This record gives sequence, structure tokens and C-alpha cells, in this order.
Amino acid sequence: MAARKIITTQVAIVGAGPAGLMLSHLLAQAGVESTVIEIRSRQEISETVRAGILEHGTVNMLVDSGVSDRVLREGDRHDGIELRFNGESHRIDFKDLVGESVWLYPQTDVFMDLAARREADGGDVRYSVTDTTVHDIEGKPKIWFTDADGTEYELQADFVAGADGSRSHCRFQIPEAHRKWYFHEYPFAWFGILAEAPRSSDELIYANSANGFALISQRTETVQRMYFQCDPNEDVNNWSEERIWDAFRSRVNGNGFELKEGPVIDKMVLKFRSFVHTPMRHGKLFLAGDAAHTVPPTGAKGLNLAIHDVKVLFEGLDSFYKTGSSALLDSYSDRALERVWKAQQFSYWMTSMLHTPADADDFSRARQLGELNSVVSSRHGKVYLAEAYTCLLYTSRCV
Ligand code: PHB
Repeated sequence: MAARKIITTQVAIVGAGPAGLMLSHLLAQAGVESTVIEIRSRQEISETVRAGILEHGTVNMLVDSGVSDRVLREGDRHDGIELRFNGESHRIDFKDLVGESVWLYPQTDVFMDLAARREADGGDVRYSVTDTTVHDIEGKPKIWFTDADGTEYELQADFVAGADGSRSHCRFQIPEAHRKWYFHEYPFAWFGILAEAPRSSDELIYANSANGFALISQRTETVQRMYFQCDPNEDVNNWSEERIWDAFRSRVNGNGFELKEGPVIDKMVLKFRSFVHTPMRHGKLFLAGDAAHTVPPTGAKGLNLAIHDVKVLFEGLDSFYKTGSSALLDSYSDRALERVWKAQQFSYWMTSMLHTPADADDFSRARQLGELNSVVSSRHGKVYLAEAYTCLLYTSRCV
């Protein structure tokens, strides 16, 4: 068998999702070399349907670091959301409450912008690799992998960034005695669809009802993205179009509001949970994004949190290579985790406030409506929601 081909770089990045590519891009701009490896093909990542609400800080990172300004041209700026319960809609006006907005711009587009920019800059990004194993994170890190042509490599680096998503292989390199995992399971999942229909609303509608939660989001003038709460073991094949629209109608229609319906062109069940891996660093390995934490999608924080990790990690690496000081790298985990737990709290709160557990008793249902009423009838309640939704992670911009 031929010997492994050796490649050396400064930062080896596992995972070419938004976190891995953004880190590679920022490092390149600061003159730091990186190699990114990814088990999926570029096409597979481009075809995965993902969520897409970006905080202003995330948009700024894309635009200011020169990835692309397509988000400003083609993304939709949203100045608020609607909370709908008891058959009535209540607008949470972000602009009025905290002077901020968010952008609806799907994660797939963020990936495509980053992948195109890395390609244009000659970045070393290798898709469709196999047999990835990470070694020696406490000493001189190396990563073994096989590329799409079957050639075996050893990638040697000063540091490894584990940005390999919620099924991360990297996080298992951290010895059990040095890690603690936090989990929270929810007794529901989301049934997500893409439908060929006009927009029902210009802004997102987060709806609570006795039949469960629903979220009305958008993609284009003619394709809409919507979700309703379902059992985690639900099988999409049991859901005809008629049954799907019935579920949506019973959760959002009423008092003059009617969803615009159309052919369902994609349907899927999205399971979720809250998860945090601590610490986010061990030896030369730094975890970023879903590899270190996942949040339920209700707070729209997942992608923002991943990009925020990358911002903090980049500052640490940049400072190390410019000054030789590892102080910022040493504080990476604590700085990132502070935001992670804020995002966990917000996502947990939005999820539990808006979903209806199948076994909810009369007290918990009435209390939940009391909570929703408290939020929408208090300016301070609405300000908390608006602040957390628009600028939880990049607080310097907020109020
Ligand atoms: C989406 O558009 O897919 C989306 C928006 C907001 C969320 C989750 C998903 O909280």
C-alpha cells in the first residue's frame, strides 16, 4: 500500500458547512493557511433544505468580510414577527422595540456564497472525503482521510477546528474524563414542508394552538416553507396533502386569516433537542457550531451561534499567529459558551411557550396562554423577545 501523502497547514478544519468555510475565509484574509475537509459533496450540501434567519451580526460578518452582499440584495429584511394564539395575531415589532431587524436568507445560500468565495480565492476545500480520523489533539494534530479519488492523506496542522456538525466525529476525540455533555429532549418534532403557493404573510408567524405549534415562513414569491409540531416518530408517508393542510388550518386559520395553499413539493420530519458539549476546546482541538451544541429551531439561533463561535475562534487564532499569545485561544470556550447558554435559554423558552405537549393538562394549557398574554401585553416582555431574536449573539449592536 502506498504511504499516505503528507500535507501541512496551519489550521485543519473538519466540516465545510457555514462554520468551517467562514473560519477558513476569515483565516485566509488574515494570511493564515487552512485546509478544509468534508465528507459530503458540495452538491449534497447545496441541496439540503435548512432554516434561515440571520441576526444582523451574522449578516455583517458575511458582508464586511467580503464573502458576498447577496444577502442584502436577495435576502428579505424582516422588521418583526407575529405571535399568533387564541385565534389572534400579535406583532412583535423589532424596529420599534429594539431598533433592529433580521434577514430571512436560507443557510443553503450562506453555504453557496461561502463555497463560491473560497473557490474564487483558491482556498483548499476538499469535499467528498472518506475515512476521516483525527489524531494527537494533545500533541501535534494530524488528520487521516481519503480523497474522492481514493488517495490517502495525512494532514498535519497546528490546530484542528471541529466544525463537523451535530454528528461530529471530532468531539469524540476529547477524552470522556475531560468533557461534560448536557442534553434536553423534547416530546415533539417539526413536520416541515415546501409548498408551491404565494406568501400568506410578509413576516414569520409563530402560532400556538390547542392542536400544537405551527410556523409560517417563506422562501420565494412562489415557494413557501412551513412547519407544524408533530410526534418525533411521525412517518411523512402517512401524510397526504389534504391531511397536511388540515393540520395547518387547525393551527393558524381563523378570525379572517387563511393560509394560501398549494402543492406540497417536499416534506420531512425534523427531530431536535438541546445539546451542549463542554468545554469547547481540548488541547489543539476547538469545536465550533453544531459539533458543540444544538438548539431547537424555534429561536432561529443555530446558524447564528455557529457563525458567532467562528468569530470568537478566529479572534483567538488571529491573535495567536500575530502576537504569539494564546490568551484569546485559552478563553475561547468560556467566551463562546456564554452565548451558547443564552441561545439555549431563548430557544428552550420559545419552544416551551409555543408548543403544546400531547399530554398537556388543562392547567398547563391555560398557564401557557397566560404566559403568551403576559409577553404580548408587556412592552418589557416584547423587548426581551425582540432583543433575543434579533441580537442575542452580537449584543454590541442592540439597545
Ligand atoms: C425557516 O424559514 O426555515 C425557519 C425560520 C425561523 C425558524 C425556523 C425555521 O425559527
